[in-house]
Amino acid sequence: MTQDELKQAVARAARDYVAQHLPAGGILGVGTGSTANFFIDELAGIKDRIGGAVASSEATKQRLEGHGIRVLDLNDVTAMSIYVDGADEIDAGFSMIKGGGGALTREKIVAAVAQTFVCICDASKLVDVMGKFPLPVEVIPMARAYVAREIERLGGKPKLREGFVTDNGNVILDVHGLSIADPKGLEARLNQIVGVVTNGLFAQRGADVLLLGTPDGVKTSKR
Ligand code: 5RP
Repeated sequence: MTQDELKQAVARAARDYVAQHLPAGGILGVGTGSTANFFIDELAGIKDRIGGAVASSEATKQRLEGHGIRVLDLNDVTAMSIYVDGADEIDAGFSMIKGGGGALTREKIVAAVAQTFVCICDASKLVDVMGKFPLPVEVIPMARAYVAREIERLGGKPKLREGFVTDNGNVILDVHGLSIADPKGLEARLNQIVGVVTNGLFAQRGADVLLLGTPDGVKTSKR
């Protein structure tokens, strides 16, 4: 199976999860990226069950609306039972690195509101120790050089994502060379650097359910 076939299979499994667990007319949070895109396309088939969706990026908003799915402003939503999103890496404790697509801040905000975070990814994303995938950090543009120096002091090698601006008008530093033994600690430490908007470690609020696409089928596990 190709990686795209695994993503497609996991997207179908996520659609079934939503059909089963989202209360009729409930609000669904929707992530960003290629796996999330497969999921959005699958979601179109059950859109009548969904009261509305909250998008974690402008790209996701456009794709949802393209399928005729109503997109709500998060500020108008008081409860969201499920958030579905991909990951760049996930470990056995369901901590994740996210932000490969640069949507980490809005993803983290939407995930914070949701009761259940359902992570959808192919088996290549499951790792013992995170950090091989460069950790994205969203930074206020004027703080870029200062934040980069502070990250170097912590042992990381930050690299500016060239030509990329987030939906919030900020820049991304991709931090290489990390071996993340303490995801919660590093998440908190990075967020303390002035000028950091947020970082792509989702450890304090990790996933609750993992739908993992493998050549032997989609495996479901819960934290
Ligand atoms: C975007 C993300 C994505 O969930 C992550 O990059 C995984 O993407 P893909 O499904 O394309 O592999 O965090 O900001």
